[in-house]
Amino acid sequence: MHQDVESIMFTKEQIAARIGELAAQLDKEYAGKTPLMVGILKGSVMFYADLLRAMTIPVEMDFIAISSYGSGAKSSGEVKLIKDLDRKIEGKDVIIVEDIIDSGYTLSYLKRNLYARKPESVKICALLDKYSRRVVPIEADYKGFDCEDEFVVGFGLDYAERYRNLPYIGVLKRSVYEK
Ligand code: PRP
Repeated sequence: MHQDVESIMFTKEQIAARIGELAAQLDKEYAGKTPLMVGILKGSVMFYADLLRAMTIPVEMDFIAISSYGSGAKSSGEVKLIKDLDRKIEGKDVIIVEDIIDSGYTLSYLKRNLYARKPESVKICALLDKYSRRVVPIEADYKGFDCEDEFVVGFGLDYAERYRNLPYIGVLKRSVYEK
């Protein structure tokens, strides 16, 4: 896989250090509470696993899967729930854990959807923020890094389902996706 990467945007050491800082911030802000950490499959899995293990307060885990309709789906903003949470979230402090915010469609849909279930609170924790690509106004409450508008892969992020298990976040060579 490494030969398909043009450059490394964030090394595994940088990612680990930043996740440690985010975990400490969440520990502090949610002290005395047991937040429900909602991971969005599949991209957030690496971030989710490392973030939760770096936290020291008790947490609950659950996952949700969302799919976009067809190839033009992202631009149309149509999203669909394909795997829902296992349990009710009424009265809970929910933290959505996401790998990247791009257009913002996914999280804006999800925030609306979760709020309708009457949780105590809903916050967003995203590893990467591609702010320049935003179409709908949505902000991360906790953010790892700002990300340039490049084709990034690794640490959960894929191209055609590959590269998710790269231990760093890198920029994919154009020759790979322009074949
Ligand atoms: C990616 C990413 C976010 C979403 C962000 O998921 O994990 O969920 O896109 O884009 P948006 O802000 O434009 O909505 P993807 O649909 O590629 O699925 P994956 O997590 O399985 O890779």
